[in-house]
Amino acid sequence: MENIKIQLAAKAHDYEIKVGCGLLKNLEFLNNLFPSQKSRAVIVSNKKVFRLYGKLLQNSLAKAGFESSHFLMGDGEKYKNFSTLKRLLDFLSENKFRRTDFLIALGGGVVGDLAGFASAIYLRGIGFVQVPTTLLAMIDASVGGKTAINSKFGKNLIGAFYHPSAVIADVETLKTLPTRELTSGICEAIKQASLAGEKLFSQTLEFLKKFPVKNFRKSFSNKPFLQSLEKLISEQVKFKAQIVSQDDCEEVGRRDRFSRKILNFGHTIGHAIEKVTEYKRFKHGEAVGIGILVEAEISKYVANFSEREVELLSEAIGLAGDLPDLNGVSRSEILDAISFDKKNLRSSLEWILLEAIGKPKILDGKQIADETILRCIEKIFQKRGSLCL
Ligand SMILES: NC(=O)c1ccc[n+]([C@@H]2O[C@H](COP(=O)([O-])OP(=O)(O)OC[C@H]3O[C@@H](n4cnc5c(N)ncnc54)[C@H](O)[C@@H]3O)[C@@H](O)[C@H]2O)c1
Ligand SMILES: [Zn+2]
Repeated sequence: MENIKIQLAAKAHDYEIKVGCGLLKNLEFLNNLFPSQKSRAVIVSNKKVFRLYGKLLQNSLAKAGFESSHFLMGDGEKYKNFSTLKRLLDFLSENKFRRTDFLIALGGGVVGDLAGFASAIYLRGIGFVQVPTTLLAMIDASVGGKTAINSKFGKNLIGAFYHPSAVIADVETLKTLPTRELTSGICEAIKQASLAGEKLFSQTLEFLKKFPVKNFRKSFSNKPFLQSLEKLISEQVKFKAQIVSQDDCEEVGRRDRFSRKILNFGHTIGHAIEKVTEYKRFKHGEAVGIGILVEAEISKYVANFSEREVELLSEAIGLAGDLPDLNGVSRSEILDAISFDKKNLRSSLEWILLEAIGKPKILDGKQIADETILRCIEKIFQKRGSLCL
């Protein structure tokens, strides 16, 4: 099958993002980035992913001439913290890893964000390769150089912009991903497609009509499915890479529609839902799925987004799989969570809305009345058959 390469032009350096099936079997090309006579590799992963793909990665590294060791962290968002970071930094120092050595993040966005941040600060920066193994990490988290850990004050508050030297998205690794994680990744793909424009949006929608997410896991032996999935992931990556290269460090003052901030479409409501449900009921992408629906409604009121396009987004989210119900979640709590975010350490609240598919618009929080937000939340709750508090 095709092995697709996408070049990302970052301020610090250009790098390649490879998308394809079976990429982890041959890693000889890493010698062009880190000559194996001088460089050792440190695999950062968690137990679950390492058990699935660690051996394959270790063998391919050995075949390519690299000595490797590994560091395993806990599985889950709560381990993306200071204490894991400290353990990893101590491991690197104790084992005398040098600036010529490099880290390989094998896992989802949690592993990638933490390993990336450790790479940014250990010896003031050492080489780093992303091997994303979730759909969300392939199309989003591994691309673009945002690295971070959480603090007690909030998610991703401590971090750095630090690009990897390469990203290797081996699509075959998705065959073991639980369905809810696939749904989560597809919701982010729908978000990116709705920002990118007609072409990526219809490609994404057509793919989902042909292969609804609930049938994904059975489809990995089906060649046309794999080819379409590879193509979809690579087009998604191309879009993300293009946005990143235009606004590498997400300039705070930018409000134009090519700002990196647009990638937060669906996230104002999404983050609030995650917070109100204490990060337990929803996977991040699932909450973004609901966020897309609500923010599409808001876009209708304040940005003339058409009813027809609202329906298209709703159809796409419907094909992404079952989302958790919203029963018991109160609208006013969602509103409070949004205004808490506003008063938080980040800059003032900005909404990313759509004038049309492919035409995002950044609006100041003050431009949207609370009543409009409440009405749109209520509408989506009712559509989904959830009791609206
Ligand atoms: N840096 C960025 O630009 C960026 C962008 C979006 C999200 N993120 C971050 O990414 C994180 C979310 O990432 P995620 O959705 O990948 O979650 P995750 O890393 O928690 O992975 C989800 C689950 O899938 C498991 N898993 C991973 N690969 C697997 C595989 N191939 N087979 C079976 N199980 C597998 C993991 O062990 C985990 O239990 C959040 O911390 C978020 O803040 C970062
Ligand atoms: Zn997201």
